Amino acid sequence: MCGIVGYVGKEQAAPILLEGLEKLEYRGYDSAGIAVLSEEKELQVKKSKGRLKVLSALTDGGRAVEGTLGVGHTRWATHGEPSDVNSHPHLSSGRRIAVVHNGIIENYVEIKEFLLAQGVCFQSETDTEVVAQLLEYYYDRSGDVMDSVYRVLHRIEGAYALGIMCRDLPDAFIAARKDAPLLLGYGQGCCFIASDVTAIIKHTRDVAYMEDGEVALVRADGIQVFDALAQPVEKEHHHVDWDVSAAEKGGYAHFMFKEIMEQPEAVRKTISPRLKGGRLCFDELKLTPEEIRALNRICIVACGSSYHVGMVGKYNLERLLRRPVDVMLASEFRYADPLVDESSLVIVISQSGETLDTMAALRQAKALGARTLAIVNVVGSSIAREADGVLYTWAGPEIAVATTKAYSTQLVLLDMLGLYFAQVLGSVTEEESARIVSELQTLPAKMETVLADTEQIKYLASQYFNHSSIFFIGRNLDYALGLEGSLKLKEISYIHSEAYAAGELKHGTISLIEDGTLVVALCSYAPLFDKSVSNIVEVKARGADIVALTGESLGEELSKTAENVLTVPDTHVILQPSLGVLPLQIFAYYVALQRGCDIDKPRNLAKSVTVE
Ligand code: G6P
Repeated sequence: MCGIVGYVGKEQAAPILLEGLEKLEYRGYDSAGIAVLSEEKELQVKKSKGRLKVLSALTDGGRAVEGTLGVGHTRWATHGEPSDVNSHPHLSSGRRIAVVHNGIIENYVEIKEFLLAQGVCFQSETDTEVVAQLLEYYYDRSGDVMDSVYRVLHRIEGAYALGIMCRDLPDAFIAARKDAPLLLGYGQGCCFIASDVTAIIKHTRDVAYMEDGEVALVRADGIQVFDALAQPVEKEHHHVDWDVSAAEKGGYAHFMFKEIMEQPEAVRKTISPRLKGGRLCFDELKLTPEEIRALNRICIVACGSSYHVGMVGKYNLERLLRRPVDVMLASEFRYADPLVDESSLVIVISQSGETLDTMAALRQAKALGARTLAIVNVVGSSIAREADGVLYTWAGPEIAVATTKAYSTQLVLLDMLGLYFAQVLGSVTEEESARIVSELQTLPAKMETVLADTEQIKYLASQYFNHSSIFFIGRNLDYALGLEGSLKLKEISYIHSEAYAAGELKHGTISLIEDGTLVVALCSYAPLFDKSVSNIVEVKARGADIVALTGESLGEELSKTAENVLTVPDTHVILQPSLGVLPLQIFAYYVALQRGCDIDKPRNLAKSVTVE
């Protein structure tokens, strides 16, 4: 997730920007840059791939770039790999406009084509550069910066927090926001913008939060804010009393909880560019409909939670495609002499894009002639570069070792891919397809509903946090979901936990159930609800305590059998795990919290496993 900071005042801007960017480092980034307006009214841009210390060395800690007005940026690559040229700020060809951006301009290809036809030359592969170039295009014609900014905002689609400088606007910079965070800071004789308060808290605690559609003109002596129709807006000021470390986590105690709460937004970002006018668009997929039709084997390969996404994917893709889909752990696949060839598609899933076993499996699949497709979060990562095609999840950087938002975005992306394949193969009816699309559109809002009230889960965690062993049971998609719920719990709370296909219990695990054993019974897969309830009865008869989870419409029915029932909104059956996983993540979080565990950095685990 990119970070933005802007400053205008009496001090030298560059050192303040660098310091602000340092505070945004926790958000994750792969390159950084600043733009500062010189006394001669030149836009000086310094940027580089890599850590901030590279930028700092390049600018002598900011001292080599003189000027009292500037914007800075840490980039988390989305369009175009991490590189010096793709770093922000981006300059327009005439060097009159500099832009930093957090978000994704979804229609950048169309705007770029328009500008190319007008003779504009582009330097980078980014979506952001179109903002700088389009702004200069309008500015050339109108000579009015604010007017040009509004024209650009009307033309671009997607999400953005923007910091804009214009050479001809020597005492101000402009900020704009839609679906990406940006706040305004009011200091003594200086003003700021920032992606979050961490970047400026040293200088001011007096802030206002920009709303979607707003545009701000930021000067040293104050900030004018306008709405989408260019009408002035009075902003409510807030006093921030967080300490700096809490501020980095957006006020949350842990990155994991922050990332849990970010899931609706992350999923929205995954869905939105691929769902246009109710139609699925996979422009980035390097597979033609003919090639999809010619596939005779689909194999999903991954590790950890990404593998659990594959488990859900197997059920969902088989249901949608009516074709066999295999899922394999990457560490098994690579040594299994796998049966894949030119007519196979191997889908590898990886948040980091660097997991060694997944990488090895990908290389092996390629060596055997299979088509490969990667679902990856980190742009420009090794797996993303080596796969034949890549679908990015755009979850933003995930800091907590235990994945949450990466899992959710992978899940929804794989579901969407499955639906797209099914449409190509004609294996799904139009009605069914329309139902899934419509549920996809409401999914982020339903996720918000689940996350809005965590009290019941917190209470249950307080009841069961000192158990030494917890079982998760479920059938079909609930079994796949249970694997993730159980993994989350054991990863961060160190409680022994196992997930079982509920029907398999009687073949062994039921011998472990005794008085007071906690069984988390997942009953959100409606077609097998009654069967799951029978399994609850079985374990209850052996003394188990039950925490059960289901969709709202079945909640009442379930409470006849289970003492503790958690519900999530109903949705299309294939999307139910996207909602069901949320209470399980929160349960794991609160259990670990009660046990005093190091939630963001659990013992013995690593975020990115680059060893075998
Ligand atoms: C580690 C992480 C997990 C992750 C797994 C696979 O074990 O702690 O959260 O699911 O690696 O990582 P990947 O980056 O390939 O998704």
